[in-house]
Amino acid sequence: MLLALDRGTGEPLANQLYESLRTRILTGKLRASTRLPSTRVFAKELGVSRNTVVNAFERLASEGYIEGRVGAGTRVARTSPEAMTRTAAVRKRRAAGPGRRGPSERGTSIAGIRTRTWSGPIGDVRPFRLGVGALSEFPMKIWSRLSRRWSLGGVPAMDYDEVAGYRPLREAIAAYLRSARGVTCDASHIIVVNGSQQALDLTSRVLLDPGDAVWFEDPGYDGARGAFAAAGARLVPVPVDDDGFNVAAAIARDASARLAYVTPSHQFPLGVTMTLSRRRELLKWASESGGWVLEDDYDSEFRYTQRPLPAMQGLDADDCVIYSGSFSKVLFPAVRLGYLAVPPSVLDTFLRVRFLTDVHPSTIPQATLADFIGEGHFERHLRRMRLLYRERQDALVRSAGQHLAGLLTVPPSDGGMHLVGSLPAGVDDREVSRAARAHGIAATPLSFFAESRHCSGLLLGYAGLTPAQIEKGTQQLAAVLEPLVRRAARGRFT
Ligand SMILES: Cc1ncc(COP(=O)(O)O)c(C=O)c1O
Repeated sequence: MLLALDRGTGEPLANQLYESLRTRILTGKLRASTRLPSTRVFAKELGVSRNTVVNAFERLASEGYIEGRVGAGTRVARTSPEAMTRTAAVRKRRAAGPGRRGPSERGTSIAGIRTRTWSGPIGDVRPFRLGVGALSEFPMKIWSRLSRRWSLGGVPAMDYDEVAGYRPLREAIAAYLRSARGVTCDASHIIVVNGSQQALDLTSRVLLDPGDAVWFEDPGYDGARGAFAAAGARLVPVPVDDDGFNVAAAIARDASARLAYVTPSHQFPLGVTMTLSRRRELLKWASESGGWVLEDDYDSEFRYTQRPLPAMQGLDADDCVIYSGSFSKVLFPAVRLGYLAVPPSVLDTFLRVRFLTDVHPSTIPQATLADFIGEGHFERHLRRMRLLYRERQDALVRSAGQHLAGLLTVPPSDGGMHLVGSLPAGVDDREVSRAARAHGIAATPLSFFAESRHCSGLLLGYAGLTPAQIEKGTQQLAAVLEPLVRRAARGRFT
């Protein structure tokens, strides 16, 4: 079997081996029931340690790509996990009998895509819930006063509006993006969407065909992974290092990608900023290969120590970048508003596809938001939240230093609404997260967002918590962590 593992990328060899085998299985190069060499022979052939092969095999087996029986060796599974979901759907429909209703094969397979689910009650501010800001600090009185204004618009305000969204809001967004993010756009490039999730879905449907390869940050945002998977794309995980998305590794893995999904200003979930040279490299790839870049600028507003780098879209001379942003973090998630800045070459297709999806977002919150921005409340709220979130981040770092020493290392970050804590060796982040949940603590495991298994840690949201809640949450988390860390230490020394 010709498998090239690259020691220069920094990507663990077990991950590379897992990925190449999985790709071969999915593309049919390794057929069902094909026998794989024993781990010992394979390790020798590849010039790697046996552990590397065992790790890759274990992961493939746990995901259902290969199966092994004592004495019979390891074989490619008779049915791939993807095919199993498909067949299950068909079987269910057939079992229901002719003429019985049931979801389609496509619906069943989309519904089966792995995403995060929020298990707490709506509105709950559980420490350290991810991705929600200080909702109680939002100037709701001003917002409700402005929202009444829409009703004074009479009959014209009640009619269908432009598919791209409410024009005064698009103008306000374009002006904001030009001055705050260096985005090259005017109102004609902006499409107002119902949150970033719709931007991801729309972009996938307009730009991707089933089977197209998509470069995906590893670890990366599950909402984006789900949208691409729903469009039938083939996800190519690309390692993120201290300089952000590793373009050379991406090209080495699959230069034929159709789209690269990146969060350059504040990588989700690790929080690194993609360097200028990496951004240039990615744009060079896109312009030479005819690929697209989807830049998700979901929380660039919250930068505490220095001004953020301008958006990558502003460097794009060939119209290869689709730029997306959200009001979920800067306002509140229930507003369900976000935006896309789309190059002219595909704008019309985006608008036609959008029309068939939901025609346009409700005009009522759009009009309120246009006035909220126009009257300066948006900028004011943003300035206040920046100061508040910075204080809260400091509070988390301080409390963690006091209560979590030896249990979880929580370094500060230049921005964002959560921090990434690293666990001592041998502590399983999913187990910690489960135990924490039982004590009323939401500590999201980093490994959930990873395609490769080397990522482990806890994501701790702080923006929605007062310093007192942070202090208490940290103490509770320490109580959860202590026995697990002690057990792991015992395991290391026996
Ligand atoms: C990377 C990323 N993009 C976008 C969003 C916002 O999504 P939406 O606008 O659909 O609420 C989030 C929220 O957590 C995110 O983490």
